Amino acid sequence: MDHKLHSLREKLAQAKLGGGQARIDSQHKKGKLTARERVHFLMDPDSFEEIGALVTHRSSDFGMAEQQFYGDGVVTGYGTVNGRLVYVYAQDFTVFGGSLSETHAEKICKIMDLAMENGAPVIGLNDSGGARIQEGVNSLGGYADIFYRNVVASGVVPQISAIMGPCAGGAVYSPAMTDFILMVEGTSYMFVTGPNVVKTVTNEEVSSEDLGGASTHASKSGVTHLTSANDIECIEQVKRLISYMPQNCEDKPPSLPYTLGDEYRKTLDSIVPDNPNQPYDMKLVIEEIADPGTFMEIQEQYAENIVVGFIRLAGRSVGVVANQPISLAGVLDVNSSKKSARFVRFCDSFNIPLLVLVDVPGFLPGTDQEWNAIITNGAKLLYAFSEATVPRITVITRKAYGGAYDVMNSKHIGADLNYAWPNAEIAVMGAKGASEIIFKKEIDNAADPAGKLKEKEKEYADTFANPYRAAARGFVDEVIKPSETRRKLIKGFAMLENKAVSLPKKKHGNIPL
Ligand code: HXC
Repeated sequence: MDHKLHSLREKLAQAKLGGGQARIDSQHKKGKLTARERVHFLMDPDSFEEIGALVTHRSSDFGMAEQQFYGDGVVTGYGTVNGRLVYVYAQDFTVFGGSLSETHAEKICKIMDLAMENGAPVIGLNDSGGARIQEGVNSLGGYADIFYRNVVASGVVPQISAIMGPCAGGAVYSPAMTDFILMVEGTSYMFVTGPNVVKTVTNEEVSSEDLGGASTHASKSGVTHLTSANDIECIEQVKRLISYMPQNCEDKPPSLPYTLGDEYRKTLDSIVPDNPNQPYDMKLVIEEIADPGTFMEIQEQYAENIVVGFIRLAGRSVGVVANQPISLAGVLDVNSSKKSARFVRFCDSFNIPLLVLVDVPGFLPGTDQEWNAIITNGAKLLYAFSEATVPRITVITRKAYGGAYDVMNSKHIGADLNYAWPNAEIAVMGAKGASEIIFKKEIDNAADPAGKLKEKEKEYADTFANPYRAAARGFVDEVIKPSETRRKLIKGFAMLENKAVSLPKKKHGNIPL
């Protein structure tokens, strides 16, 4: 027995070394951790159980039979993060550049299947040169097996992709179908075709970083949801992110213990300026409403005119969608609609209640918006809110104009509680624009058209630029003092805790993609 145990120990020790010390050193020199180090930092101490440490590839072309590494370029298994079960795969760049072979894919598929059957999140730590070039179609098939599982698992268990190295070609489509993508600045990139192909086809000269680095995807494409300075920070973000999520679609998100105290927030009374055209930072409102230090913003640098993220309210996990007046006056446009619609659908998939803070002057006009399908894209947000069955509370902090009033979680599309602050303006459009249209003749014929416009503007504003018409109809449930918002929300979400609503039986809806 002793020699057999010795042999097992040797094999496992070899597996731990991946592609060997020299390649591990090279990984460290690039400022990257190895796959095993990443798993170590992700999981609770001693909780990680590896599956498939001794798997080897089956290919023999191009001298591959002689190049065998235990684990075949990916560390897979399960363990706990803050005491909760998760499944993980971490691609090992020291073995054939973390490239994906048929067996590498099988290992990933195995833990994805386990995750779905046992109802726990899947975390992928990606660092790979893409399809194992020596394997041809076997590798492509392996990718497709993963893609298929990403889709089947979507909405069943949370799926998180951390990109911690190269991720190119069709390989990007697995992360793209997961719920959240995180990227490490400077060492990770994602693109369908790299700089060389781009140069050949379009004659554009672009670096990997500019084409598909973390900041490109955070600010330009919106592909990534979070970025970090290094591997450790990225892993910390993954841990924080999953702390807001349930284990699966039938579970509730974890709630932290919280003792209610004085939940009034006086500062909220003075955040919104008296001048309706003066901007203010909606993130200050979110920070004041949330349990201190719990706001985790998602896609911070993309479509900054809408803010999405997670907060806790008396310990409960809540998804926030909020117009941002300091960016494009908080207008809804193509990118902000896409960003927020996806976030709403994530929260709804995983039973995370939604808080919507509204200060929206409408949809952004212009050829750019129309030609880029603001109709279809704006409809995504409308659709996402309308189909969401989680508890939904809206607070109108100032403007709620036009179609955007309807879209931003209005009572009419199924919100449970709708509050407005006393300075809210709920109307078809702003007083000036409205007066110019409906009083045009009167203004044109007046001795002092400018004075007449001012007079009519005031008349319109007095009639509609307030929350009381909506409150009279019950479209707004209550007009509240800003300082009591947090208290109202805590009570409201507690009241809605057991909300049970289901949509009519259907195969699936047809969201305007
Ligand atoms: C097999 C690979 C590999 C691959 C890298 N390696 N990519 N082996 N298949 N796809 C190996 C290298 O031979 C090398 O082996 C080790 O990994 C490290 O690679 P280096 O090139 O030395 O590292 P670096 O300079 O950091 O460059 C990393 C890289 C580069 C940018 C990823 O290796 C690269 O461009 N690789 C090819 C990428 C690619 O074209 N992949 C296919 C994409 S198409 P040694 O033995 O020296 O350590 C695709 C289709 C998916 O993925 C389709 C899904 C539908």
